[in-house]
Amino acid sequence: MAREASELAALLGRHGQQHVLAFWDKLSARERVILGEQIAALDFGLLERAQRQDPAAKSEALNLEPEPFIRLPYDAQSVLKWRQARHVGQEALAAGRVAAMVVAGGQGTRLGFDGPKGAFPIGPISRRTLFQIHAEKVLAASRRYAREIPFLIMTGPSNDSETKYFFKQHGFFGLPHDSVKIFQQSQMPAVDMKGKLILDAPDHIFVSPDGHGGSLKALWDCGIAAWLEQRGVDTISYFQVDNPLVSVLDPCFIGFHIEAGAEMSLKLLERSDPDEKLGIWVNNGGAAMVIEYSDMPEAEMHACTPDGSLKYPGGSIAIHCFDVGFVRRLNEKGIALPYHRARKKVAYLDSSGALIQPDEPNATKFEMFVFDALLLAKKTVAVETARAEEFSPVKNAEGADSPETARRDMARQYARWLHSIGVTVRTDANGDPADMIEISPLVADDSETLRMNYCGPNDVRGSLLLAQ
Ligand code: UD1
Repeated sequence: MAREASELAALLGRHGQQHVLAFWDKLSARERVILGEQIAALDFGLLERAQRQDPAAKSEALNLEPEPFIRLPYDAQSVLKWRQARHVGQEALAAGRVAAMVVAGGQGTRLGFDGPKGAFPIGPISRRTLFQIHAEKVLAASRRYAREIPFLIMTGPSNDSETKYFFKQHGFFGLPHDSVKIFQQSQMPAVDMKGKLILDAPDHIFVSPDGHGGSLKALWDCGIAAWLEQRGVDTISYFQVDNPLVSVLDPCFIGFHIEAGAEMSLKLLERSDPDEKLGIWVNNGGAAMVIEYSDMPEAEMHACTPDGSLKYPGGSIAIHCFDVGFVRRLNEKGIALPYHRARKKVAYLDSSGALIQPDEPNATKFEMFVFDALLLAKKTVAVETARAEEFSPVKNAEGADSPETARRDMARQYARWLHSIGVTVRTDANGDPADMIEISPLVADDSETLRMNYCGPNDVRGSLLLAQ
């Protein structure tokens, strides 16, 4: 044991982190093993790289221009282009080439919900959860294309076992158990303002999830990429857990991605408010990329064209398509996404061993962002989507992007579908549905399917729940 301590001390000493052994003498044999294993598993090279780099855009280093993207159909020719993409996407889905993937490893701090965010009850009437809605969309697509479609769920350390239990408890929402893969992302240590690792217990170094960019590494490390390749799946349709409106397997988007031979693609919507907290699609010195709103100079966020519209109109809603081959290529080289820094409050042990809750940010956490991988892709396609049809995230407990706005937007979407098939829906003074409406993805996940499956009243008065 003593030798082990000296080895650990030497290793830590080489990186200026000897303080991690401050309580070694007081640890039990078991606690020494726990801490020893955590130290031995630390990747100091990675941590030092993360501390050196700062990928946040520096205004003086930016050379921004708008970057074009494929717009929603606006004339006869573009209608044909979209129809052709849809056909290509449908063929890929029917050939079993596509998997759906949700990132759900975040801690959902802003929502203040006790449990994995995917277990949040969002259904306007049924209170079906975010996970159920996503899973039912995957199941609906599997039925439509007569193919088993893998559903990949990335969790984090704080919600992995709860998420696994949740899916099991609900019978995987009707999906074949072995087509649902729940896998965990890696973690990164944080450092204090002097670059030192932080002890949050005498035998534990504080670590936190490595960001959604960690999904590209976890897919590889957990053997999911190899499993997909064996099944003949070459394309992953990626989305965030917080958005109940997302089209989880959009044939048009998948089709544009495949037709172009892209390695990684993204969906954009028209930014409506210059201060909206979205990643922004730009060209920076010749490279098409997403810059997070918080890294974008304010003048550029607000910049307008002579006709008054925003100069950078594309907002990223974190929906991507990427190739399994791209995941392989990135990992075979040793994944090199940059680490972004976030100043956070992290509880730490003081020299007496008391746990201190800081009032001010005292630590830097490191996270990879998945959209940085766009810069590593040989080819990228950016495709517009309609906000009303595809984006209403649940981020905050109240106000904008809350359960209330998401339920309202879901009911609005269902009302539009009903309206498009000739069903009358009572509306209030704002033109919104006067009563709650909910349609399970298993009944319909678009207006075309609703037309085929609808057997409700022609005049909806009162709330309406269509479920199987
Ligand atoms: C994110 C995007 C932003 C985009 C917006 C759209 C970033 C930095 N910003 O913002 O560009 O316009 O969504 O809604 O991503 N997650 C993990 N593991 C992690 C961290 C996050 O799986 O380590 C997952 C979360 O569970 C969630 C998603 O990633 O599903 C987004 O995380 P969040 O921190 O909520 O991102 P936003 O700041 O809302």
